[in-house]
Amino acid sequence: MLRLLFPLRITQWLGPLFVAAAAAGLLAIVVVVTGIVDLSAAKPHPEGWARLLHFTFDRSTAFHAGPTPPADLDTPLRIAAGAAYYGQVCARCHGGPGFGQNPVVLSMHPRPQYLATDLPIARFTAPELFRIVKAGVKYSAMPSWPADRRDDEIWHLVAFLRALPTMPPATFRQLAVVAHGDGAAAARFGAPPTERRYALRNDDEPPLASYNYRTPVFGFSGYALGADPVATCARCHGADGAGGGAFPNLTLQTRDYLAQTLAAYAAGRRRSGYMQMVATELSPAQIGALADHYAALPRRATDATAAAVPAEGQRLALLGLPKAGLAPCASCHGVTRDAAKAYPLLEGQSRWYLADQMRVFRSGGRGSIVGDKTPDPMVVIAQKLGDRQIDAVAAYYAAQPPARVQSFAAVQPGR
Ligand code: HEC
Ligand code: HEC
Ligand code: HEC
Repeated sequence: MLRLLFPLRITQWLGPLFVAAAAAGLLAIVVVVTGIVDLSAAKPHPEGWARLLHFTFDRSTAFHAGPTPPADLDTPLRIAAGAAYYGQVCARCHGGPGFGQNPVVLSMHPRPQYLATDLPIARFTAPELFRIVKAGVKYSAMPSWPADRRDDEIWHLVAFLRALPTMPPATFRQLAVVAHGDGAAAARFGAPPTERRYALRNDDEPPLASYNYRTPVFGFSGYALGADPVATCARCHGADGAGGGAFPNLTLQTRDYLAQTLAAYAAGRRRSGYMQMVATELSPAQIGALADHYAALPRRATDATAAAVPAEGQRLALLGLPKAGLAPCASCHGVTRDAAKAYPLLEGQSRWYLADQMRVFRSGGRGSIVGDKTPDPMVVIAQKLGDRQIDAVAAYYAAQPPARVQSFAAVQPGR
């Protein structure tokens, strides 16, 4: 029996080995062709695989390390030259002193490390840093240097990286960030971002001793937002703030709702890939100034061509569904009862946006201004409505002229 399984003559091994190799090859093809391999970037690599990749990266970087550094490597001019490029390109992914990383970047795997601490830089010699900046990192988002034969420029970055861990935020801001937008906008929207915590979908890179995946949670204040954030908002919400149908109309809302909503996006309490990436880059002062700005714009309706409004829409809005225990929408949305609650106004809002948000509430995807722990009345309400009812009530509100903001006291004397 043993003889049969482990024959003595080497030629007798060949057949079984060939069959085993063919079977393995076939299995590999089946695995690839069926598509069961999960290439999602929503999850980090499994820990063992991450360790292997990082070890390979370290060995490869040491093996391919760059040339001897120039004698003037660590001079202030080189550091300043490196800082400007870092601020323009690298800070978007790796953050910087006084600046955190954007949620979009924190959703990359492998995640770019926050580089403004000693650990990630001190691990490497200057020639190794040169290699990384020049060659980039395959199987990650880390780009290679865009111009060939410009080693001088790469050394600027190496000089800057070596200075980065001990660089004070004020110096970094001055070298890498200043001079965006005009002074007037800076005076109006002012104030650099301060520390703020936001919920992160996947804060779970494998714990590697040599890696720093902790990032301070500042707003990032990227270049897009610059000194005049309204320029960024206008890309989606339009110069008039009315959103053009595809984006929510901001001119309708009260200052309190706008401010609380932006703060909720910034903290990750209200979820949206679009708005979280923007709001985390805003300082509290900017949020306040933006809320003032949009609340002061002329209120205008979104959809010029209002479609026919099913009677059901008006009924739901004004009377609710007493049998289903559904209060009229207008009982909350008709008036701003209480500034602290900050109900949004719906009249004149984009029909498409209204219907979309109702469905997002229904699926529990919106999060909440107040946080996940406090139940949002809209989730319960939306779950009682079918698609037809949602579309009807959205059509009703879109067709109304923008509501004037009334205080609760004005409609309920004595309260
Ligand atoms: C699009 C995002 C992105 C940009 C832009 C970017 N990097 Fe990276 N960087 C990464 C990723 C991802 C890694 C690999 C992380 C890992 O290995 O786990 C990385 C790795 C590195 C490392 C090695 C640290 C380590 O061990 O992970 C250094 C140093 C570095 N980048 C510096 C820079 C510099 C300097 C620039 C600008 C020239 C830059 N990066 C631009 C994403 C980026
Ligand atoms: C890339 C496009 C984009 C940019 C830029 C953008 N927004 Fe938005 N905004 C959206 C989308 C999409 C939504 C709806 C998100 C959702 O479903 O929660 C939204 C929602 C909002 C809301 C909530 C509206 C409501 O009725 O609840 C406010 C407030 C807001 N944005 C303000 C701003 C401000 C202020 C800026 C500039 C600092 C800005 N947005 C920049 C796309 C954008
Ligand atoms: C009990 C009070 C209450 C009732 C009744 C109510 N809502 Fe709301 N609604 C809210 C609150 C509070 C919010 C803000 C929630 C948040 O952002 O976390 C909201 C938000 C919304 C939004 C999102 C608006 C925006 O600008 O993003 C829509 C759309 C909406 N409600 C539609 C309706 C409709 C339609 C009805 C009736 C079927 C209704 N609501 C009934 C309290 C109410």
